[in-house]
Amino acid sequence: MLIRPTTAADLPELFQLRAQTRENALSPEYLATLGITPETAATGLASGDTRGWLCEIDGRIVGFASGDRTSGEMLVLAILPDFEGRGIGRRLLNEVTGWLQHCGSPRIWLTANPDPDGRAHGFYRRCGWVPTGEISGDDEVLEYCWH
Ligand SMILES: CC(C)(COP(=O)(O)OP(=O)(O)OC[C@H]1O[C@@H](n2cnc3c(N)ncnc32)[C@H](O)[C@@H]1OP(=O)(O)O)[C@@H](O)C(=O)NCCC(=O)NCCS
Repeated sequence: MLIRPTTAADLPELFQLRAQTRENALSPEYLATLGITPETAATGLASGDTRGWLCEIDGRIVGFASGDRTSGEMLVLAILPDFEGRGIGRRLLNEVTGWLQHCGSPRIWLTANPDPDGRAHGFYRRCGWVPTGEISGDDEVLEYCWH
């Protein structure tokens, strides 16, 4: 298992992966309606404002995560169905939150599906994230509490 920083060349594959998760899948077409494309993601990486990490197993990308140091937001975390439950989500989450902490982000936060039956719901709470009570669209807002 290799954890490494994301490069611009990885981005098209990551957008395909984001559409293939067991829950909360998001297609490239849907993300484009939000203004999120491989091109905008590449701009963020090039500026240094966003950074990401991915996990490769046998040369295949099986999960990735990224964050934005200007807002402190954890932007995305996605693991392919067959690779859930192996600690990869936690490792990628730690890479991004560690970087955001290093950047001095005063608030590290994310939005997530509030369905208590979804894996993400228990996962984030298990990893130390706390719901703020705020709602953003259909999602709940959580903060990372390391103090
Ligand atoms: C949510 C997701 C990122 C979790 O990734 P993962 O690799 O399966 O999670 P991990 O194996 O790293 O689990 C980390 C810890 O959380 C725990 N955990 C995971 N899901 C849990 C749940 N629903 N309830 C309680 N604990 C949970 C694990 O047991 C593990 O605990 P441990 O480290 O103490 O042993 C992954 O399932 C995923 O990509 N889902 C689809 C996309 C998605 O929903 N992304 C989030 C968008 S908001």
